[in-house]
Amino acid sequence: MIEDARGEQLGFAKGQPYAHPDQPEYDGELNKIYLLRAHHRRGLGRMLLGHVARRFLAQGIGSMLLFGDAQNPSNGFYEALGAVRLYAANGEFHGGYGWRDLKKLAAMCPEA
Ligand SMILES: CC(C)(COP(=O)(O)OP(=O)(O)OC[C@H]1O[C@@H](n2cnc3c(N)ncnc32)[C@H](O)[C@@H]1OP(=O)(O)O)[C@@H](O)C(=O)NCCC(=O)NCCS
Repeated sequence: MIEDARGEQLGFAKGQPYAHPDQPEYDGELNKIYLLRAHHRRGLGRMLLGHVARRFLAQGIGSMLLFGDAQNPSNGFYEALGAVRLYAANGEFHGGYGWRDLKKLAAMCPEA
């Protein structure tokens, strides 16, 4: 969770362990990431993502995926931060992204 100086909540992110045979190379899942629109594009999303990555690394989780929406304008954010697209068996893209190396991601994101 991220707050301003007055304690107003500006956004949050949630990660959880992931274990599914469809994507065996990923062991963490970014379940949610959200910031109030007025606070977009100020680096706060990068900070939140870095926080999730470091929390996972501290738990021995070294990779992470997310299941989003192929049309989400936020996909540019994931791609700017090094996520690769995950494709379905039929080659379609449904909005899934993955980071195979959370150390690399953490290095791209400042400490919160
Ligand atoms: C996704 C989200 C958390 C990004 O947060 P943010 O604080 O705006 O992102 P940042 O300012 O940290 O951006 C980090 C990098 O990603 C890039 N980026 C951010 N949003 C982008 C967008 N919509 N399109 C393309 N690139 C984007 C930025 O250019 C930035 O790189 P740079 O500043 O080094 O050039 C925010 O847009 C959001 O809450 N969106 C709505 C909720 C949502 O769709 N969540 C996903 C489903 S749960």
